[in-house]
Amino acid sequence: MRTIAVLSQKGGSGKTTLALHLAVAAEQAGKVAAVIDIDPQASAAGWKDSRAAETPVVVSIPAARLAQALEAARSAAADLALIDSAPHSGDVALAAAEAADFVLIPCRPGILDLRAIGATARIVKLAGKQGSVVLNAMPPNAPNVLSDARAAVAVHGLDVAPVAVQQRAAFAHALTVGKTAHEFDPKGKATEEISQLYQWLCGKLKDVA
Ligand SMILES: Nc1ncnc2c1ncn2[C@@H]1O[C@H](COP(=O)(O)OP(=O)(O)O)[C@@H](O)[C@H]1O
Ligand SMILES: [Mg+2]
Repeated sequence: MRTIAVLSQKGGSGKTTLALHLAVAAEQAGKVAAVIDIDPQASAAGWKDSRAAETPVVVSIPAARLAQALEAARSAAADLALIDSAPHSGDVALAAAEAADFVLIPCRPGILDLRAIGATARIVKLAGKQGSVVLNAMPPNAPNVLSDARAAVAVHGLDVAPVAVQQRAAFAHALTVGKTAHEFDPKGKATEEISQLYQWLCGKLKDVA
């Protein structure tokens, strides 16, 4: 089993959106995925409540039970565990990074969001793990925003995923009805972006293996 911690100190950056989309992308690729929701707001678990399909498994647990939840996922033959976390959670974020093979850091392209990456970058370093920022909710047709964001991330010594995720209504709509973009609009651009992000992550996970 490979484990990805989805971390960022900012709320609303897309942690839950990307964790759920990546879990469904993994399931669609024939893998068994589990989402471990350690955010007390439990939004990933709420999505699961509104979902008809049985997979992926989503468990909502206190952060102190993370190791046990990961062990249970491993025993249940999960291929991929995604830890969805809360913002502003320094020691918990560190524990999640330490338990993970790779840290994914969703970030909106605003300068205040980009500046806040420093805290997460330090956590990744402290845990001795590899991590990358994925730019999320990017405005369409704004190459300057993309290049500025990449430069701002580079200051913190982190990579930026080559796939940036755009601001797309399909992401929000799909989650509202207990689905992801893959199920809501299989041929849409949101689905395409997540598929590319998933492929890129699979390559990263091979590297850290
Ligand atoms: N790429 C995107 N396009 C459109 N809406 C998005 C996108 N990413 C996130 N959102 C929306 O932004 C809000 C916050 O996202 P969420 O995944 O809950 O962030 P976090 O878990 O980091 O707090 C949600 O309403 C979600 O639907
Ligand atoms: Mg969330």
